[in-house]
Order: sequence, then C-alpha cells, then structure tokens
Amino acid sequence: MTRSKIGIVGAGAVGTSTAFACLSGGVAREIALYDLNAEKVRAEYLDFAHGSMFFEPSSVRGSHDIEVLRDSDIVIMTAGAKPKPGQSRLDVATTNAEILRAVIPAVLEVAPEAIFILVTNPCDVLTVIAQEISGLPRERVISAGTLLDTARLRWLLAHRAGGIAESSIHAHVIGEHGDTSFPLWSQASIGPVPVSEFTLPDGTKPFAEHAQSAIAQEVREAGWAIVQAKGTTNSAIGLASARIARAILRDERVVLPLSIVLEGEWGLSGVALSVPTIVGRAGIEQVLDLPITDAERAALERSATAIRAAVAKVRQ
Ligand code: 2OP
Repeated sequence: MTRSKIGIVGAGAVGTSTAFACLSGGVAREIALYDLNAEKVRAEYLDFAHGSMFFEPSSVRGSHDIEVLRDSDIVIMTAGAKPKPGQSRLDVATTNAEILRAVIPAVLEVAPEAIFILVTNPCDVLTVIAQEISGLPRERVISAGTLLDTARLRWLLAHRAGGIAESSIHAHVIGEHGDTSFPLWSQASIGPVPVSEFTLPDGTKPFAEHAQSAIAQEVREAGWAIVQAKGTTNSAIGLASARIARAILRDERVVLPLSIVLEGEWGLSGVALSVPTIVGRAGIEQVLDLPITDAERAALERSATAIRAAVAKVRQ
C-alpha cells in the first residue's frame, strides 16, 4: 500500500467506530484521531495502538493537537452534537455548523489537499456549509448521506427475499439523510428482476408496490430504534465511512449514493443531497442522473426543500 492517511475529527462513538473499520479493513497506512478532549483521544488512540499487531499494516495516532491531521488525504468529520431521541437530525444543525466553522479552516492549514467526508448530522446541511467555509471544489466536500440508509434497505430486502447476497440487491436510497429520504424503487432490482416483480417460492411478492411505502418508512426509522435503545448509532456508519474512504484511496470508481452540492443535476442547484455518484481518487468524480417517476421527483423536491430550509436557518 502506498502512503495514505485518514484523519478523523471527533473521538466519540462514531469517530472511533470509523477508525476501527478503517484499521481492521486496512483502508490506509495511517489513521489519525483528533479531538479537543486530550484525555479521551489519548485513551482511544492507546486502545487502538494496543491492538495494532492484529491490524493490516497501518499505524494509529491520536491527539488534541490539530497537527496530528497533517497531510491527511481524507478527513472524516464526526464531531458534534447528536440528535436526542425525539429530535430530528435537523435540530442540531446550528450547533454543528459552528463546530465546522471553527475546525475546517484549521484542518485546511495542515491538510490542504484533503477530501472531506461529512458524517456529522445533519450531513447534507453541513455539506453545503462545509463547502462554503472551505471554498473547495464540490467533489472534495462530500457526505456519507444515504449510503447508510441504502445499506439498511439492502439488508432488509436481502433478508425478506429469503437470504439473498446483498451484493445482488441493486437498490438506492436517495435524498436527505433524514426524515425525507426514500428508495428509488423504480430502479431497484434483485439480480435482473425488478423488486416489485420478485416472487418468493410460496408465490408471494414481498416488495410489490403496495408494500413499498411501509418498507421505506421502516428504513427511515431504523436509526431511531437504535438511538432509543443505546443513545447513538455508530457501527454501521463507521463501516459506511470506511467504505467511502477505501473507494477514494483505491480509486475504485464505484457507484455509491452520496451527498454533494448539486449543480443542475436532477434539476437542483445549491443544495446537497444524495444521489448515485461515481467515487474515485478525486472524490465524487461524477454525479449520475437518470429518469425517475413523478412521485420520486416530488419526493426529491421535498428533500431539497427540507435541506434548503435548514441551511437558511443556519445562515441566519
Ligand atoms: C443514523 O441514521 C442517526 O444519522 C444516524 O444512524
């Protein structure tokens, strides 16, 4: 593996799960954790360092000094307030935008070439704000967006289809990583079979049109069930973040649904939300656009409206 470094801002549950996923997956040569809490970040870094003989060759560091992020190829932003049970992700927008305003200029001083991956919620709103603050080209300010929602959807479909490999489930959740996200049902298939046509051995069609809105709702609420029980989600988002970092560092040019500030694609501009994108060494290298149904178009507009309203509130 050539030299590669991932910086992670925030050594909380999401930051450390991301570090764990990157280390155990051998995603980069070096993982650097940064957090203002010196004692916590040192403890987290030592806990990883003590496991380093079990990782693929990579080193781990951690500090409350921003220098630790120097020359990172990728910086994953996980710091910030989390929505509490009963709150929406949008409720923590202003607080978390303030954190970005303080941190991004400092990160750019030490890692001017970095690609930013926004994980902190509300990630779409923060992607717009982060691009403004950083002045970076949009392909370098991207968000995990609905990759996690897509993983949840594929898991659910795979199980209800009778245990099919998730790699054979071709489905994407797009829009806001939030209460207005929705699956692109018109394009979803299991192997080559459109999901609505997929038939179980007993003759039933578990994903027929009448079942789709309940499944979409289940996927939207999946994170909250976990937050209610343990206060946060961290493992799956850590794996999703590591997946994006790997796609970038290995120049995979893989299609992933991620959030980026749109510039006319899907008929939208100046708002960040998730759509299928091609991810490679430059970040998001292409935004894919495709024909969708009128209902999907209306759902996308709802996502854009929700995100725009939250961005306007943060800018006040
Ligand atoms: C999640 O969906 C809460 O955004 C977090 O797991």
